[in-house]
Amino acid sequence: MSELVYPDGFLWGTATSAHQTEGGNSNSDWWDWELRPDTPTREPSGKAIEHYRHYGRDTAMLGELGFNMYRFGVEWARIEPEEGRFDESVLEHYRRVVAAVRRAGMEPLLTLHHFTLPKWVAAQGGWLSDRTPALFERYVRRVVEALGDRVDWYMTINEPGVVAFGGYLGAIPFPPATRGVDNWRRSIAGLIAAHRLARAAIKELRPAARAGVAHSMQEWVSNWGGRPALEYSRRLNEDVFLAACKDDDYIGVNTYTRQRIDLPAPMGPISRVVLSVGALERRVVPRVAERIAAAASDPELLMRDGVRRTQMGWEWRPQAVAATVRRVAELHPGKPILVTEHGVATANDEERIEFIRDGLTALHPLIGEGIPLRGYIHWSAFDNFEWAYGYQMLFGLIAVDRKTQERIIRPSARFLGEIARTNRLVIAE
Ligand code: BGC
Repeated sequence: MSELVYPDGFLWGTATSAHQTEGGNSNSDWWDWELRPDTPTREPSGKAIEHYRHYGRDTAMLGELGFNMYRFGVEWARIEPEEGRFDESVLEHYRRVVAAVRRAGMEPLLTLHHFTLPKWVAAQGGWLSDRTPALFERYVRRVVEALGDRVDWYMTINEPGVVAFGGYLGAIPFPPATRGVDNWRRSIAGLIAAHRLARAAIKELRPAARAGVAHSMQEWVSNWGGRPALEYSRRLNEDVFLAACKDDDYIGVNTYTRQRIDLPAPMGPISRVVLSVGALERRVVPRVAERIAAAASDPELLMRDGVRRTQMGWEWRPQAVAATVRRVAELHPGKPILVTEHGVATANDEERIEFIRDGLTALHPLIGEGIPLRGYIHWSAFDNFEWAYGYQMLFGLIAVDRKTQERIIRPSARFLGEIARTNRLVIAE
């Protein structure tokens, strides 16, 4: 037996988002999207896992398992159901949630935007509208005023890169499903502007609070021919956001897999030209995005290549998280880093334990090298609504019977809870 010991005060958490768990988020753009017959969403979110109602027992369960942090979301569409009208009863609700998280012995990490927009914001163009960053800032101020004295960790936006790539370039089936490179770039600018305004508001109202973003990051690999495409994708999905977040209090890293771009050698120079000449880029990139969207909507197709994959069709690569954390440390030396999501969709809980163990084993040496990794948050606490895939993807440490809303603790929850409680990972040799 050997053991890996983590630094005192290491944060061990689990994560959820509002829309994926609360249920009945009917004022949001996603709600309409799920019910439209022309979108590839497999089933609507409906009541989800009724976390809005069961947050008390859910957070108590996580605290008892041994976690000391809980990352969860508040929902803009509930808090401001119409432009300029803030619902105090909803803010009061979230105050109770924060109190429950603290009672359970956990530090709350609060996500302010996790993919969903109020319908009225979406109707104005969502992240393409020049007004949205300031509207977001106003909403964030209300939340921080209402909850600020009890919350020390804020996340302004979850995975802005995914929102832009998915919703505005159209490479993932996400609303508003616009297409085109210009929309992609505009949404990137809008998301960055919103984050900056929100961060400044949080720091003004609560100077001691920490503000950051969860960045969707991949371990990228390519052959020679795929190199220009890799650099282009990584720049627009990750680097623009990481650069904009250099003054944040921490960098949140969400990593699930490794992304491989292998192209025939002649494609190297060709794609370098295509991606650097605006007119060509505008024609070619949306077509590639359509192909990516088609592939993502059918994980079964991805399974056929013999590579070990998760339910999502993603390459099995728990160690990818060490590569992404290392990259952040190289780009922003000394900046505190939190793994804000790492997890696996699988119907076999033994695989989940393996995934956690291999991810944590890969991360541990980074701490010894002096990389300021402050914590590890697993996605997800519970099985929940996995966006376009509905409820079929099982990411939870805790299973949920959605008929009875009963929570069933999986062995992986006890495994990670024990690591959290003892601050060490025991490895059988
Ligand atoms: C998101 C989660 C999602 C998870 C698994 C992340 O992109 O933040 O909302 O459920 O990945 O796909």
